[in-house]
Amino acid sequence: MATTTAPPPSQHIIASPKVQKLLQKLHSASEAQEKSISQLLFYLGRLARYYLFNETWSAGADQHMRDKFVSLEPNKCQFLYLLARSIGARNIVEAGTSFGVSTIYLALAVGQNAADPQSNLVAGAEGMTTRGKVIATEKEPTKAARAREHWKEAGSEVEPWIELREGDLLETLRVPDSLPEEIDLLLLDIWTPMALPTLEIVRPKLKRGAVVITDNTAFAKPLYEEFLEYIHHPGNGFKTLTLPFSGGLEMSIYLP
Ligand SMILES: C[S@@+](CC[C@H](N)C(=O)[O-])C[C@H]1O[C@@H](n2cnc3c(N)ncnc32)[C@H](O)[C@@H]1O
Repeated sequence: MATTTAPPPSQHIIASPKVQKLLQKLHSASEAQEKSISQLLFYLGRLARYYLFNETWSAGADQHMRDKFVSLEPNKCQFLYLLARSIGARNIVEAGTSFGVSTIYLALAVGQNAADPQSNLVAGAEGMTTRGKVIATEKEPTKAARAREHWKEAGSEVEPWIELREGDLLETLRVPDSLPEEIDLLLLDIWTPMALPTLEIVRPKLKRGAVVITDNTAFAKPLYEEFLEYIHHPGNGFKTLTLPFSGGLEMSIYLP
């Protein structure tokens, strides 16, 4: 399973040919960036700066990443889509949206869950509702603009199911009463120092059994030290496992 290239999305997800084509185009662009020597050196440099200077992130790193997709690989995105479908996720928070690639998969899943009258996993006390959304978050205005363009291009299967909060998520997710009462899934695909603060903001709204997916927890383990300590601490209510995707993908279930 530890490969970065997966079969074309069409084998795993329900989406129109237009959306499939868009996803393949976006993944190819992201993969080309990620496979470049300069990007590899950037990641190794981050680890070196951590060991030498205890530096987890920097303004220079932000600058370097401003034009990078850093999208989740296709197989991780497909896994997220299937996971969201299997748990009937209606309300998803995505920490780190970039150019909006993983968001497209999450939005497809939420839209399809909301439209599925057979799903017995999504009926609330008030009966079936047709709503749901992915709350996407991006602090870089140029990235947020590109994400919006991609969702517009994807069209009605995707765009209506996304609410983008532009700005620092430490502020945008903290707006009082602005999160759904119950969050089914949280994706943490963000710079490592942001993972724990984001989880702490969202945790009060996680429903019992909610899933938290965190990218790259094996490759960047030293940078995730505090987050991993928190998620493994029995008092915090998570059961967690590192799945053997490239770089490690943490799957944590909230069972307080
Ligand atoms: C790894 S990328 C997300 C990739 C995306 N999930 C995908 O698969 O297509 C992480 C993103 O988080 C954004 N980010 C970092 N710190 C943030 C913050 N405090 N608030 C909002 N976004 C932030 C970065 O600008 C970057 O675009």
